[in-house]
Amino acid sequence: METITTIPDLRERLDSERRTGRGIGFVPTMGYLHAGHLSLVATAVAHNPVTVVSIFVNPLQFAEGEDLDSYPRDLAADSAGCSGLGVDYLFVPSVEEMYPSPIDTVVKVPSVAAPLEGVARPHHFAGVATVVAKLFSIVGQCRAYFGAKDWQQVCVVRRMVSDLSMPVDVVACPTVREPDGLAMSSRNVYLSPQERVQAPVLRASLDAGLDAIANGETDSAVVEATMAAVVNTASLASLDYAAAVQADSLVSDGPLHGEVRLLVAARLGKARLIDNDGTEI
Ligand code: PAJ
Repeated sequence: METITTIPDLRERLDSERRTGRGIGFVPTMGYLHAGHLSLVATAVAHNPVTVVSIFVNPLQFAEGEDLDSYPRDLAADSAGCSGLGVDYLFVPSVEEMYPSPIDTVVKVPSVAAPLEGVARPHHFAGVATVVAKLFSIVGQCRAYFGAKDWQQVCVVRRMVSDLSMPVDVVACPTVREPDGLAMSSRNVYLSPQERVQAPVLRASLDAGLDAIANGETDSAVVEATMAAVVNTASLASLDYAAAVQADSLVSDGPLHGEVRLLVAARLGKARLIDNDGTEI
């Protein structure tokens, strides 16, 4: 595995790989890789002749007061994890390399970005879409792997790629969980032992929503109330939202139908956790 820190170096390597007919798999991350990230990496390695993983804690997607400065980092462990899985290139640009001067161009996907996470984090997805657009421009034609754990992020990236005709195939991969159902997240390190015990309530809330739908419920308000009630059983959890929506538009347009996504967000102490799952009616 080669670690690359500059944009021209990565472009040159990947252009020459493509010239010899080798397709590129790309996994964008912010590092501190856990088994969830590594499952995307393993899938990319299995399905592409060449795999590139990027590690960049993107300042654009953090709001004032969020955890940009304290965001966990461990480049040595990330590097060992990636090379162990057969990654070819690890792209680790500095902030100066990515943003040599304050960036003026912003990519926004407002209809998909506005609901759910967009209410609590109004500028977050513009930061995500902008850095992912930049990374796609650097990496070029590729298959790009994202976790379904961040379902709204997948929707934003898919819509951007489609609207801007980017030469990227977006692949959504299943959420990797702890044995008790908690979705793996770099931010789980913020949970106190007591909060950690209660954190699987998000998974339980999704299960309750899925059960309601399996029993014939199609009223999103009823499914949402069922989900919210489960989160509210956890004394340390403060519910942000519990939503039952159409999987692509992220809004409900009457009785739930077709591909449905259930999404939940709650704060436990310092950690703000999100989770989601899907079903078809
Ligand atoms: P980050 O939070 O580091 O996540 C990188 C990728 O790993 C994302 O696609 C995310 O959905 C996926 N992922 C995280 N936890 C997962 C889990 N438990 N199971 C499966 N996949 C999981 O998401 C970002 O970084 C950034 O927004 C980024 C896209 C890199 C842009 O800066």
